[in-house]
Amino acid sequence: MAEKITVSLIKADVGGWPGHATVHPALKKRAEEVLEAARGEGVIIDFHVTGVGDDLELIMTHRKGVDAREIHALAWDAFKEATEVAKGLKLYGAGQDLLSDAFSGNVRGMGPGVAEMEFTERKAEPLIAFMMDKTEPGAFNLPIFKMFADPFNTAGLVIDPSMHSGFRFEIWDIKEHKRVFMGAPEELYSILTLIGAKSRYVIKRIYPKEGGKVPPDEPVAVVSTEKLYQIAGEYVGKDDPAGLVRAQSGLPALGEVLEAFSFPHLVSGWMRGSHNGPIMPVGLKDAKCTRFDGPPRVVALGFQIADGRLVGPVDLFDDPAFEPVRRQAAEIATYMRRHGPFEPHRLPLEEMEYTTLPKVLKNLTGRFEEL
Ligand code: F6R
Ligand code: MG
Ligand code: MG
Repeated sequence: MAEKITVSLIKADVGGWPGHATVHPALKKRAEEVLEAARGEGVIIDFHVTGVGDDLELIMTHRKGVDAREIHALAWDAFKEATEVAKGLKLYGAGQDLLSDAFSGNVRGMGPGVAEMEFTERKAEPLIAFMMDKTEPGAFNLPIFKMFADPFNTAGLVIDPSMHSGFRFEIWDIKEHKRVFMGAPEELYSILTLIGAKSRYVIKRIYPKEGGKVPPDEPVAVVSTEKLYQIAGEYVGKDDPAGLVRAQSGLPALGEVLEAFSFPHLVSGWMRGSHNGPIMPVGLKDAKCTRFDGPPRVVALGFQIADGRLVGPVDLFDDPAFEPVRRQAAEIATYMRRHGPFEPHRLPLEEMEYTTLPKVLKNLTGRFEEL
């Protein structure tokens, strides 16, 4: 049996350039230096550093499993070092996602977003790292559902006998901190009842079922579910999510995985974390959030994993075939913007609880009269 490998995608906004638009190259360089040293010492096998919007993204491979102290400490260290660079350049919101000063063994709940999974590396292991900016973890619900449960998206669910029995969904209630496992297709409608409410129920992991080509206890997809505002108690930044998806040979094909992003669905988190807007699939060169601090973006980097080495990346949405999707997203962005401060462009009040809006409302409290 091949040895297990762990892929850890850990991200944080440690300073924007300018405003909340992009990551300055000097931050990526500093993070690369930190990870290069760790690779030299054998802590990690390989890494790739990138930036999507204002988020610094660390993709690492190792054999230490998920939630490994050493790996999380390394990511924390890279973010700390990058923060120092950000402070020197007076970048915007330097260190904003590092909510605690003291690392205590695990970055979960401290600010950075984490998507990691441990699995047995197959003969050929295609893996896609998805990174979103200006949105929330629930933005993954619709595309992940399409990949693993919608036969109109994933032809393999109908055609490939090894996928025919479907997949198992691990869904988290991020308000009540509970989780439930459900099977597709047999519980399709119940799954949708939950995940359609994407600000509360988020798909955390997908597992294969018994009898497929991939062991049923090893995840094939994972999404970061940190909610910064719940951690901090007050709005301090964005919980822009990241995800990892394995593809092919009994799993959705690379193109089925990417096809799930051919519809620019509405997600929340645009401008001040307070607006709904379309998610736009872009290549790295377009991963800068400029229009009204957005619109929300998603980047997909593809790798083949070879004994833990990251062979890649291939910038998968940097493809003219996704141009119509981007154009449609831009049109929807214009349409949504025309609503200005009105719902449903602006989020409903309950979801604005942790923004700066309650302070405005507080100033008005004394002026309300009984009817
Ligand atoms: C941050 C984000 C931005 C900010 C906005 C206001 O990722 O989504 O839209 O919320 O630029 O930022 P402040 O309040 O820092 O001026
Ligand atoms: Mg920022
Ligand atoms: Mg961000």
